Amino acid sequence: MPLKKKKKATYRSTRSTREVLEILLNGLQRLEYRGYDSAGICIDNPVDSETPILIREVGNVGALRTKVYATNNLPLDATHDNIVGIAHTRWATHGEPCERNAHPHSSNKLEFSVVHNGIMTNYVEVKKFLQEQSYTFTSDTDTEVIAVLAEYLKSQRPDVSFTQLTMEVMEMIGGAYALVLKSNKYYPGELIACKRGSPMIVGWRQLRHVDVVGVQDAERSPRGVELLTDFFISSDSSALAEHTSKVVYMDDDDVVHFHNGTASFYNKQRNEDFQKLRAEARELNQLEIAVESLSKGPYAHFMLKEIYEQSESVMNSMRGRLNFQTKSVMLGGLSEENVYTINSSRRILFISCGTSLNACLAVRPTFDELLNLPIAMENASDFLDRQPHVFRDDVCVFVSQSGETADTLRALEYCQKKGATLVGFTNTVGSSISRLTHFGSHLNCGVEVGVASTKAFTSQIVVMMLAVLRLSDDSRRLAPRRHEIMDALSRLSADVAECLRMVAPKVKALAQRLLDAKSVLVLGRGYQFASCLEAALKIKELTYVHTEGINSGELKHGPLALIDENIPVIIFCTKDAHIDRARSAIQQVRARKGKPIAIISERDEEVEAAADDIIQVPQTVDCLQALINIIPMQMLAYELAVLRGNNVDCPRNLAKSVTTQ
Ligand code: AGP
Repeated sequence: MPLKKKKKATYRSTRSTREVLEILLNGLQRLEYRGYDSAGICIDNPVDSETPILIREVGNVGALRTKVYATNNLPLDATHDNIVGIAHTRWATHGEPCERNAHPHSSNKLEFSVVHNGIMTNYVEVKKFLQEQSYTFTSDTDTEVIAVLAEYLKSQRPDVSFTQLTMEVMEMIGGAYALVLKSNKYYPGELIACKRGSPMIVGWRQLRHVDVVGVQDAERSPRGVELLTDFFISSDSSALAEHTSKVVYMDDDDVVHFHNGTASFYNKQRNEDFQKLRAEARELNQLEIAVESLSKGPYAHFMLKEIYEQSESVMNSMRGRLNFQTKSVMLGGLSEENVYTINSSRRILFISCGTSLNACLAVRPTFDELLNLPIAMENASDFLDRQPHVFRDDVCVFVSQSGETADTLRALEYCQKKGATLVGFTNTVGSSISRLTHFGSHLNCGVEVGVASTKAFTSQIVVMMLAVLRLSDDSRRLAPRRHEIMDALSRLSADVAECLRMVAPKVKALAQRLLDAKSVLVLGRGYQFASCLEAALKIKELTYVHTEGINSGELKHGPLALIDENIPVIIFCTKDAHIDRARSAIQQVRARKGKPIAIISERDEEVEAAADDIIQVPQTVDCLQALINIIPMQMLAYELAVLRGNNVDCPRNLAKSVTTQ
C-alpha cells in the first residue's frame, strides 16, 4: 500500500492494481504453510474509489489467484498513488468453509471491509442487537458481525475518526483478535489494524524517505522530500520478509492507523478518552527471517526437508551455547540471576500443547534427575479449564514453536496474573511468547514450515537439555552425568545424520506394509513415553489413521485388549534401564498374536525373535535417545502420507499456528 506524504512531499510514485494484487497474493502464499480452507482479497479500485474489488474463493491461494485474474474488467494496469488492499486465508471456526464465509467480510452497505484472526466470543449477542437494528447477515461468521458493527457505530456518530471508531468497536468485542479494517466510503486511502491476543506485525519499506509518526527510527528522515512508502501489516512475519526487515510488533490493545504516508500507533488501554487520542512511540525491530529459508530446495515437501535438516538444526540450537571442550553451557536467557530464580523456586511447571508438550515430556526425566525441584507438566488447554493454583515463587515454562499458540498464551497470561516467573522456549523471535516471558531462549532451528512439527521438536529437546545442564552446573556430584550428556550432545548431529541414513530404506518398506492399517499403536515407557506420544501424533496428523501412543506400563490395564493379528504395534526397545520391561512388552504383544515392529539401538536377540520387523537407530545417551528415536517415526508418517496421497505440508483440518482456542 503506497501512501503519500502530506505537505511538502513532491510525490509522484504510483502502484498499479496488479502490483498491489501480487503483493497480497504472494503474501497469502507465504502463509499457506499455516493451513487454511479459503482465501479472499479486497482492494481499492483505482477507477471507482467507492467500490473496492472483493474476490473470495474456497480452497487454496492458487484458486483465488485464478479467480482474480479470470474476473472480467479488472483495472489491472490502472494506477493510483494510494492503493489499500487486505487479504486473508481462513481456517473455519464459525461456519463451513465456503465463499460466503471467507474473508474479507463487508458490512451491509459495503461501507466497511474486515479481515479477522481470532474468535469474537460475544458475537451472538452483538449480532442479535444488530439484527434488532435491522441489519442483516449473509455469512455464519463472527467476523461479519465486526464489519456490520463498525457500520452501525459510524451511523450513530458520523464525525468519529477511524481510530476512535476502531476503539469503539474494540470496546464491544470479546475474545482474541487481530483485525484489519478499511472503509472506502468514509476513510478512503486509510487502513486500521488492531489486536488483542492474536499476533500482528507492522512493516514498511521506504524507497526514498518516510515520516513515520510514533516510530523511533534512528534513520528518521527530514520532511518535505520525495518518497514512496509501502506499509505492510500481517499476522505472520513470513509474509513481510520479502519486502522489509523493519518491523514493529504490536502489543495487545494496540491500534495502528495508516494515513497520508504515516503509521500512527495508539493503545486503547492508555487512551480511555477516545476523544483525545495520543499517538505513541514504538520500538523498531529488525526482522530476522531469510526469504530463502522458505524454499523447499530439492525436497518434494517442506516436511521432508525439515526432517533431513535436523542433523544441522540440532547443531544450530547448540551453537555458541555449549562449549564441548570446557564442558560449559551459556544460554543468553539464563543469566546467574535467572538461574538463581529458577533454582530457588517452589517448582517448575511446563505448560504447552501438542508436539511442544511432548518435547517437555521428553526432557522431564532429566529435569527430575538433575534438579532439586518438583517438575510438573501441563497441557495448556486443560490447565486453563482447571485454573489450578499457581504461586509467585513458581517458575512457569512455556514451550512453543510458533510462540503464538492461543492456549499456551492464555495460560501464560493466567500465570502472569498470579505473579509467577515466566520462561519461554520458542522458535520465533518477536513472537508473543518471547515478548511476554521474563526470560528464555530461542530454538534457532530456522523457520519450520510443515504443519507437522519435526525439527522444532528435536531442537526443543536440545535447548531444554542445555537449560537443565546450565541450571545444574554448580553440582560436583552431578558432573559425571552432565559430562556424559554433553558428550552425547557433541555427537548428536552425527548421530542424527547416521540415523537418517540407516532408517530411510527400512521405513519406506514399512510404510508399504502399513498402508492399509486401520489403526496403529505405539508403545514405550520411561524416556520413550514421550517418543511414543510424539510418534502417534505424527502418524495420526499426517495419515488420518487412528494412532495411539501408550505407556507400555499401562498395557495390562486395558490396552492389551486391542491387540490382535491385524493391528500394527510399534514398540520402542532401545537400550536403557527399562530394556527388560520393553522386552516384556514385546512378548506380551507377541503372545496375543500381535505383529510388533521394534525400534532398537543395539542388536537384541530376544527382541529380534519376537518382532515382525526391526528398525535400528544409533545408540546415544538414554536421556537423548527420544530425539533419535523420533526420526524413523517422522519418516514413517511422511512416507505413509505420501503413499496415501495426503497433503503432507498442510494436513487436513490443521493449521501451523493455532491462534484460536
Ligand atoms: C504437531 O505436529 C503440531 N503442529 C501441533 O501439535 C503443535 O505442536 C501445537 O499446536 C503447538 O504449537 P506450538 O509449538 O507452535 O505452540
